[in-house]
Amino acid sequence: MKKLSNVILCFSVVLISSSVVAKDSVNSSGREITQVTSQGDSVPPYAVSEQLVVKGEELYKRRCGGCHSLDNNRIGPRHRDVYGRKAGTVADYKYSKALRNLDVIWTDQTLDEWLVNPTAFAKGTSMGFRLKKADERHAIIEYLKFLSSASSANAQ
Ligand code: HEC
Repeated sequence: MKKLSNVILCFSVVLISSSVVAKDSVNSSGREITQVTSQGDSVPPYAVSEQLVVKGEELYKRRCGGCHSLDNNRIGPRHRDVYGRKAGTVADYKYSKALRNLDVIWTDQTLDEWLVNPTAFAKGTSMGFRLKKADERHAIIEYLKFLSSASSANAQ
């Protein structure tokens, strides 16, 4: 038994010293890279999506705010909770026939396709606005999604 623990001790000394060697070589070859990696690891995923939501809010105001608001119908229908809702179903907004007949739930994918080209998505729609930049669409969709899940979480 004693012999075995000696072997284990020896073995772990070898392991520890080899890992120290490995660490040293990483440090000497690129301290900066090590730091970037460890910093990246310490950022939790939700912080990244929070940033995206903030960016989305800003872009929403700039790109969509001329026609939409969250809580009032304007040129376009109000948007709070639009994510996850069936298209064309804000009761007191007068949609085009195209939107009323559109059998679609607003999700990441359908919103993205819609924003690329509303007319191609629902022929005859009265929304004549396209958002070409994929990263802007993505951020705005994250924002609308965040508002939906936030308000349904509040309701529970
Ligand atoms: C030039 C005005 C205008 C701009 C800018 C605009 N929209 Fe619209 N939007 C409309 C109109 C009008 C409708 C109603 C379409 C219909 O009834 O055919 C609409 C409808 C929608 C719908 C369907 C809502 C529902 O209840 O089914 C979504 C989603 C939408 N817009 C998202 C956006 C987003 C996101 C932006 C910004 C990136 C945006 N729109 C920018 C005018 C606009």
